[in-house]
Amino acid sequence: MAGSLVFVGFMGAGKSSASDDLLDTDELLEQRLGMSIAAFFAVHGERRFRSHEEEVVLRALRSGAPGIALGGGAVLSERVRAALRDHTVVWMDVSVETAWDRAAGEDRPLARDREAFAALHAERRPLYESVADAFLPEGDRLVRRALPALESLRDAPAGTKLVYAAAGGGEYPVFVGRGLIGGLPRPGRRAFVVTDEHVGAAWGGALRGTHHTITIGAGEQHKTLAVAERVWRELAAEGMGRDDHLVALGGGVVGDLAGFCAATYQRGVPVVQVPTTVVAQVDSAYGGKTGIDLPEAKNYVGAYHQPAAVITDLDTLDTLPPEEHAAGYAEVVKTALIAGGPLWERVACGTPVDEAVVLACARTKIAIVAADERDGGARQLLNLGHTVGHAIETATGYRRYRHGEAVALGLLAALRLSGADELRGQVASLLQAAGLPTTLAGADPADVVAATRLDKKRVGDRVPFVLVRAPGDVQFGEHVAAADVLAAVEELARTAR
Ligand SMILES: NC(=O)c1ccc[n+]([C@@H]2O[C@H](COP(=O)([O-])OP(=O)(O)OC[C@H]3O[C@@H](n4cnc5c(N)ncnc54)[C@H](O)[C@@H]3O)[C@@H](O)[C@H]2O)c1
Repeated sequence: MAGSLVFVGFMGAGKSSASDDLLDTDELLEQRLGMSIAAFFAVHGERRFRSHEEEVVLRALRSGAPGIALGGGAVLSERVRAALRDHTVVWMDVSVETAWDRAAGEDRPLARDREAFAALHAERRPLYESVADAFLPEGDRLVRRALPALESLRDAPAGTKLVYAAAGGGEYPVFVGRGLIGGLPRPGRRAFVVTDEHVGAAWGGALRGTHHTITIGAGEQHKTLAVAERVWRELAAEGMGRDDHLVALGGGVVGDLAGFCAATYQRGVPVVQVPTTVVAQVDSAYGGKTGIDLPEAKNYVGAYHQPAAVITDLDTLDTLPPEEHAAGYAEVVKTALIAGGPLWERVACGTPVDEAVVLACARTKIAIVAADERDGGARQLLNLGHTVGHAIETATGYRRYRHGEAVALGLLAALRLSGADELRGQVASLLQAAGLPTTLAGADPADVVAATRLDKKRVGDRVPFVLVRAPGDVQFGEHVAAADVLAAVEELARTAR
């Protein structure tokens, strides 16, 4: 991608201190104007200021400087936004509260009225978003820690995006794009790759620098303690140490299992997730939940272990069978229902799963995990459709339905329980058009309801549900009567007959 690293973002995001030797366009402007920005604003007004700013910024962008910090309003100019396409643009996000704390009281012309400031913050976010190649959350000196990843992004193929994820358990870069699998640097000395038989055959050769590969059987029935033990023992036999790293090359099964092995082997080694299914690229590769299934219940043994990096290469989806694409679509619909807004609009009108959709889903999940890493609150939203979905998987012995297919059915049950009948109809059409099941076969509804009682989020004998009022308006921890759950599952089974 090359060009300069250009830092954009709202007032108070900390752009000027992003790295050493930055060209700061606000400083250049003050030199040119011969007075402070505030003084110029007061005398000549914003319009004249913006035209000077545009010229200074365009010149800075032609300068070849390695790092440039732009003033908060520079992206208002269409010419500046066009010129940014030749650079690697880093959006440093900041909450309106933090921005106000930092900017109010400094002599800033647009930080005098709290309400107007908040409106401007909301108005500018989509502009920063539209030019960004890298998305950085707010965090103390976080940009400094993200610099190596930002440098890697400069060398990555055109169109690659970087989301820098930060959760209590660790920070890591997430690269989303095409042609990434072979190229991006990974942490640690030697790479021990865990993959499954399908993915290994298709993509194992594309990874560079592999020291040793462990291939497991494909599918949910291999996400077991026995397979994890095989992986641990093979790592030990091959002499993997803590200065090496594991690469999880595959879908959610490989990601969860290899992540679990990485969390536990020698009490923790780094894992790089290289997701190769839609499920994994839009959801499971991010957030650090790892684990295995028990015959009794799904994902019952596991650990939180944030990855060291995630490399999401959409090229790998080229070999994914259509049924697996479809299964992943259920997680896309789930994420879009949670996010609402532009992501839901895209998905609701039938947009295929492309880079923009994968990126938006990844950003949604990463933001939720950043707010609640360990499922104490908001992260439970991601469970939408999964209470019944997991129960269907358990009740059918993990064999009849793919995870995503079970989630599709679970979403319909959750929407019925939400009383969102119109939305349920709309979602059913989307799922059906993608080739997903909208009717339940091969399981007794009573067994499914019994399996929901094993849900890990159960409190006493209450199983909390995630309910949807409207896209983007989703609540977790909702109590639903067992009879209503049975009715919602029976409805799925009834329509099958
Ligand atoms: N950790 C989390 O936060 C989280 C979130 C959602 C789902 N999950 C878990 O993810 C699992 C489901 O993941 P999944 O749907 O990716 O299933 P999967 O990993 O079993 O992959 C599905 C199938 O596609 C094949 N495959 C994968 N990538 C391929 C490629 N590029 N080309 C050809 N074939 C390919 C696999 O070999 C497998 O046969 C479930 O166990 C679920 O619990 C975890």
